[in-house]
Amino acid sequence: MPATRRAALFPVLAAIALGVAAAPPAALSQSAPASPAASPAATGTVLVTGASRGIGFEFVRQYVEAGWTVIATARKPQESSDLVELASRNPKVRLEQLDVVDAASVAALKERLAGVPIDVLINNAGDTDQFRGQSFGKLAHDRFGYLMELNAHGPMRVTEALVGNVEAGRQKKILAVSSLAGSFGANGGGMPGGYWYKASKAALNVMMLSLAQDLKPRGILVACLSPGQVDTQGYAKRGITMPGMVDIKLSVGGMRKVVDGLTAAQSGTFIRYNGEVQPW
Ligand SMILES: NC(=O)c1ccc[n+]([C@@H]2O[C@H](COP(=O)([O-])OP(=O)(O)OC[C@H]3O[C@@H](n4cnc5c(N)ncnc54)[C@H](OP(=O)(O)O)[C@@H]3O)[C@@H](O)[C@H]2O)c1
Repeated sequence: MPATRRAALFPVLAAIALGVAAAPPAALSQSAPASPAASPAATGTVLVTGASRGIGFEFVRQYVEAGWTVIATARKPQESSDLVELASRNPKVRLEQLDVVDAASVAALKERLAGVPIDVLINNAGDTDQFRGQSFGKLAHDRFGYLMELNAHGPMRVTEALVGNVEAGRQKKILAVSSLAGSFGANGGGMPGGYWYKASKAALNVMMLSLAQDLKPRGILVACLSPGQVDTQGYAKRGITMPGMVDIKLSVGGMRKVVDGLTAAQSGTFIRYNGEVQPW
């Protein structure tokens, strides 16, 4: 099977075999994506990594709409027309350059944000499209290191750099957008060939769990989020229908609601966009 075809089938295979794309519960069904609104209880300052497109951009868009101050970071913020356009209309959007695998870029952001309190840090940047052409026997070994750097090490690097900002914020919340693909408890053997992605998200999960414990004395909450399967790679536009896909507005609206309501008791857990706690 050609790699492009296999890539196109990836979400379907993952959905079927991993069981990660079960239909959302009625209260959050895709027929009603218009009102995923998070609780308006609190606004503040949120920093989102990987905000140029996909889930990251949708976080930015929704937080702006809800009146938050948003620090939207991207590798090349000026090349994201969506971000630039949003920032041009909203003075509460601050665009910042950040490549999460580049130590110098992370250090430079830390310096630029010195003294800026951050209520919510959302580690979202990641690579979801690593399935290309991979299967056991034909694994792209040269991609393993990069995926671990990006999906696992990146969030830790960013979090370590900005933890002081979060500690200075009122809400003190750190999130990582993970995936059920990285769950031991939910892994039914799907996503064939997705070893590197799964390993990187499993590594991310265990690090966030440890971080939740380490940061507890500082009053900082840490949790992993599972967005469900969201079509950020343009499958629908290409006429490819996928069972169990979650509308991006619904997914991000749900995750925002989870973040808004996050309690100390939930720190160190893995929570799906619809509020269900997932197995590690
Ligand atoms: N979509 C899903 O179904 C799904 C399911 C489970 C988990 N997730 C997770 O959700 C997160 C967002 O995924 P998505 O679907 O929105 O993916 P996406 O549309 O491919 O967007 C990925 C984002 O990450 C950024 N990025 C990539 N490498 C980066 C780096 N080195 N430094 C900073 N930013 C970087 C990209 O920026 P550029 O524009 O510069 O490339 C882009 O903004 C990922 O962590 C992914 O694993 C997604």
